[in-house]
Amino acid sequence: MENVWENCLSAVAKNTRPSPVREILKVITQEGMISFAGGMPAPEVFPVEEFYEGASVLRDKGRTVLQYGITEGDPDLRNFLASWSAKRMGRTAAADEIILTTGSQQAIDLIAWSLIDPGDVIITEDPTYLAALSAFSNHGATFESVPMDSDGMITDELPALINKIRSSGRKPKLIYTVVNFQNPSGVCLSVERRKRLAEISSDMGVPVFEDDPYGYLRYDGEHLPSVYSFDPEGAVIYAGSFSKILSPATRIGWIIGNKRIIRQLTVFKQSTDICSSPITHSLAYEYCRKGYLDSHLPKILKNYAVKRDAMQKSFETHLYPLGVKWVKPAGGFFFWLDFGKNADTRKLAVKALEKKVAFIPAEPFCVNTENAGRYGRFNFSYSDPETIEKGAVRLAETIKDTGGY
Ligand SMILES: Cc1ncc(COP(=O)(O)O)c(C=O)c1O
Repeated sequence: MENVWENCLSAVAKNTRPSPVREILKVITQEGMISFAGGMPAPEVFPVEEFYEGASVLRDKGRTVLQYGITEGDPDLRNFLASWSAKRMGRTAAADEIILTTGSQQAIDLIAWSLIDPGDVIITEDPTYLAALSAFSNHGATFESVPMDSDGMITDELPALINKIRSSGRKPKLIYTVVNFQNPSGVCLSVERRKRLAEISSDMGVPVFEDDPYGYLRYDGEHLPSVYSFDPEGAVIYAGSFSKILSPATRIGWIIGNKRIIRQLTVFKQSTDICSSPITHSLAYEYCRKGYLDSHLPKILKNYAVKRDAMQKSFETHLYPLGVKWVKPAGGFFFWLDFGKNADTRKLAVKALEKKVAFIPAEPFCVNTENAGRYGRFNFSYSDPETIEKGAVRLAETIKDTGGY
């Protein structure tokens, strides 16, 4: 029977590679393993009691919330999010400029459905979010990347890149960017570059997708306005998510943008999953309506800032003397470590697993893999400070044993 399936697989399925980080993900649940590999929020800060309060909605509105919902998502929650997110985004959206998605991962997929023909080019930061590369690839996208520095994507390189893509007969369809505490690099795009990005997008006719699941998780400094807020033309679409600030199990994300593209995304969502869950929409709305989201944020910021500082201290003590370098992230979930130009983090990650500490080497996040061997991503949100310290010691031992490769 296996052959029937082999013979019937689509061209995309045949070209889909298993996740390059599968080996790591397979073993991170082993007894005694310290995992800096994932990207999960801390379960100890889930607002279980406050969320549970909303369960009465099942009794009060059961006949509605147990039914299919509208594809755009619960109107109360959409209105709430449009006004709640306006303050940090720096721009208000109308109710027909927002659609709720099944996590922001679905936002990526719906945008891909709406924009990508096979061979089209998506421009990304380098490195970038691994599962966005996979989702765009599923639709036949190819990639061109823009390097980053400590202020994020070097936007001045964009016009020449767009021209180069066009003159080679290909279509640059989208600039994909994670502007706040980027996954994996932890970097934020500076305000000047946000303005410049919106300008380039409008001047050169290439839309921007601003993916922002980490924006609220700022531990130092002030929030920066969104790229969306600098976009008078409607060429920037913005995606947010409850996954990192409330719970990933809600599977609630949202896209804000021009009505035309929101309508298109809605059409694809209809055939993808009809609608996201009305039950979780109403539970989340109850939670938000009572002000719990606002009172929850300072609690998680405190928890994550302690862990971020613990990782900074442990890495300073154990890794810095071995020549490892990094920029302390001002928010988000990740440290991005530079092990030096002779390092091979793929091999180092395998050796680290033998010492029972896991991290993700850079290569799967990179479009241009030339220098990928020197970097790795380390998550701090999921481990307590004692575990972070132990993990740093194990990592230092691995580097000493292997010479960093
Ligand atoms: C940059 C980025 N975008 C999107 C997602 C998808 O998140 P979710 O579907 O849980 O909202 C993630 C998850 O880690 C992410 O890091």
